[in-house]
Amino acid sequence: MSFADQPAAQPSSVPYINDHYLADEQELVRSLAEEADPGASARRKIGDTAAQLVRAVRRNTENEGGIEAFLQQYDLSSDEGVLLMCIAEALLRIPDADTADRLIADKITAARWQDHIGTSDSLFVNASTWGLMLTGKILTLDEIATGNPTKLLGKLVSGAGEPVVRTAMRQAMKIMGHQFVMGRTIGEALRRAMKSTDLPYRYSFDMLGESALTAADAQRYLDSYHQGIESIGDEEVEAEDVFSAPGISVKLSALHPRYEYSHEDRVMAELVPHVLELAKHAKDVGIGLTIDSEEAHRFEMWLNIFERVYRDPALNGWDGFGVALQTYQKRGRDGLRFLIELAEGVGRRIPVRLVKGAYWDSEIKWAQEQGLESYPVFTRKSHSDVSYLAAARAALAAGDGIYAQFATHNAHTLASVLHFAGSRRDYEFQRLHGMGEELYAEVVDPDKHDRPCRVYAPVGNHEDLLPYLVRRLLENGSNTSFVNKIADESIAVEDIIADPLATAAAHDYAAHDRIPAPADIFQPERRNSQGINLPDRSVSKALLDGLEAASGKLVTAKPIIGGKEVSGAEEPSLNPADTSEIVGVCHQAAAGDVKKAIDQSVAAQPSWDRLGAHGRAAILNRAADLYEEHREELLALIVREGARTIPDAVSELREAVDFMRYYGAQAVRHFGEPILLPGPTGERNTYEMRGKGVFIAISPWNFPLAIYTGQITAALAAGNAVLAKPAAPTTLVAYRAIQLLHEAGVPPEVLHFVPCGGRLM
Ligand code: FAD
Ligand code: 2OP
Repeated sequence: MSFADQPAAQPSSVPYINDHYLADEQELVRSLAEEADPGASARRKIGDTAAQLVRAVRRNTENEGGIEAFLQQYDLSSDEGVLLMCIAEALLRIPDADTADRLIADKITAARWQDHIGTSDSLFVNASTWGLMLTGKILTLDEIATGNPTKLLGKLVSGAGEPVVRTAMRQAMKIMGHQFVMGRTIGEALRRAMKSTDLPYRYSFDMLGESALTAADAQRYLDSYHQGIESIGDEEVEAEDVFSAPGISVKLSALHPRYEYSHEDRVMAELVPHVLELAKHAKDVGIGLTIDSEEAHRFEMWLNIFERVYRDPALNGWDGFGVALQTYQKRGRDGLRFLIELAEGVGRRIPVRLVKGAYWDSEIKWAQEQGLESYPVFTRKSHSDVSYLAAARAALAAGDGIYAQFATHNAHTLASVLHFAGSRRDYEFQRLHGMGEELYAEVVDPDKHDRPCRVYAPVGNHEDLLPYLVRRLLENGSNTSFVNKIADESIAVEDIIADPLATAAAHDYAAHDRIPAPADIFQPERRNSQGINLPDRSVSKALLDGLEAASGKLVTAKPIIGGKEVSGAEEPSLNPADTSEIVGVCHQAAAGDVKKAIDQSVAAQPSWDRLGAHGRAAILNRAADLYEEHREELLALIVREGARTIPDAVSELREAVDFMRYYGAQAVRHFGEPILLPGPTGERNTYEMRGKGVFIAISPWNFPLAIYTGQITAALAAGNAVLAKPAAPTTLVAYRAIQLLHEAGVPPEVLHFVPCGGRLM
């Protein structure tokens, strides 16, 4: 196989787009702040306008008792708020009722709902709290009843217990969902939109649904987008141009089950025609079409798809094809630069909806889980705000190239845009349905700011709602969110409208000190394994070149007994995905070799044990570093000999590295200490944690490096000697692993490589 032929080995069509993918936050925000700063006098005026808006919103919401109050009560800084969010999030993923019941049972009883009763004036909050408390009680009884389930549980809970709780939880989600969804069908949503004619809102309808997993789902979503476009187009709406006409918002993840960087060729061939058809349809019926922004790892491909469709001559003469751009991404400003250049080049206007971004929590977690060098998004809220302001000024300055759309519920951001734009009217604001009504009542009022606002109006059923709902709950429940702060009367107006430029400058634009870099999330105990940011083409291209170079020559592996390589019967190692490809050859250990390895291990193990946990951990840490230094070579072997995909191979290598650092750290923490364990008759015996002797590690082929390394190094860390017998189909990668462990300092008499097919003796 050739790594150099992979699509990701081609250079990006937008050469600078990934320059800031994981950029140094401080340097980047410092330069964005310069761009965003309108000067001291303008900043004062912005502050005044923002304060007026906040006071007006607070006046208008004095008697508010609905979802805002609920989310205020159960915000993400309360244990119960986090718990509700966990349940909502988990319900997204749990397909079967039984597991959902168990999760709810497990979680809901742990919370202190009673502490929330009466702390809000809202009837809605108190009623919901009672509901949650009772739900918790039912499950507590359930727990008590486990000693005698037929009696108590049967009487009190069965038939009306956990299924009721589950139904109640789902019902609670539906009630919350109703707040954020315009209608179950496009017809219902259109009727509701048309009824609110007292306020001059524009609408962009969003047919709920994302992350299609099958081609059938993607087709269903595509059909619903076309149907939505048809119905919106049928509505008689007076609009001067496409910018004031209604529109539809589309998520590309709904339209292709493999909308991933690793399938870019297929996505470009299959998804682009669908998006073009949708755009042509929208053009024909005279409405706008916006491509929503989703996860950062799709960003470059998303821009490529937009560009391909936008350049199609079939769209000539139509300015309605737009995108949503996230400014919490470090690449947000560069994305805007690209769009401005694109519009100038083609000579057609692009509507650009500026958003901060709705996937912040997930982006942070993914970057940590993938061990990236840094985060693709900013770590301080004020930095996303500053980035937004820089982009807002640039979008407004782009002349005819961009039709700027400012999607925000933040009064300070909104006031900034009003001041940046001055008397101009060639732009619009946007808000989400169910959010920001009072704020925008001030903005669209002809006697006040008199600027247009569009409402993003989700349409759909409960099944498609949950991901959207979870994002809204996170946004409303987070104590850094403007919408959360404004609902909290105890926060002073000045604090709510704090100037993000001043906040960012106050900590010298540095990244958040409580969000460690992904490499440091397990510190001080250990370093996280190094990830590879595969969606960044400059990174994946370099990796593929490295894999190609590492694949050149055949590998010859031999048993290693006491540090010496011995010859035996030769077995070829083939690429299971293409058995004509010989990856190398492995000599087999004979019974005498195994015997020798056992004898040496028995003799050497006590001194390895005496070395102590610190010494062994240091060696394992060195081995982990060596695995990372030999990354390309190991990955190429895992892919070719183990037939794993490249992302799976990367995870495999990282897991192996994590195992070594983790077991080393555990050994340091526990070894040599006396521990108390119950004996056979319940008595307590004191044991000293130390090595037990010689272990044989027999590994499976499906994790040829990770499980193999894990088995061996767990035993080594604990002070044991090991005979490592690899799986027969994956001997070559196993051989290199043992060589690296020896190089790191594991004594050869303590670790032996004994490949012997399916046999050990
Ligand atoms: P603010 O309270 O000022 O900002 C909240 C935002 O700040 C968070 O959402 C997050 O982006 C950011 N943030 C929070 N904490 C931190 C932190 N510690 N470090 C860095 N940043 C942080 N979002 C999408 O992703 N894709 C879309 O296509 C999209 N379309 C939208 C369309 C409309 C019409 C609207 C109104 C919103 C859309 N959104 C979209 C959602 C949008 O991203 C959020 O509503 C928005 O981020 C909230 O910003 P704000 O200015 O209203 O509130
Ligand atoms: C979201 O789906 C509004 O597009 C944004 O969260």
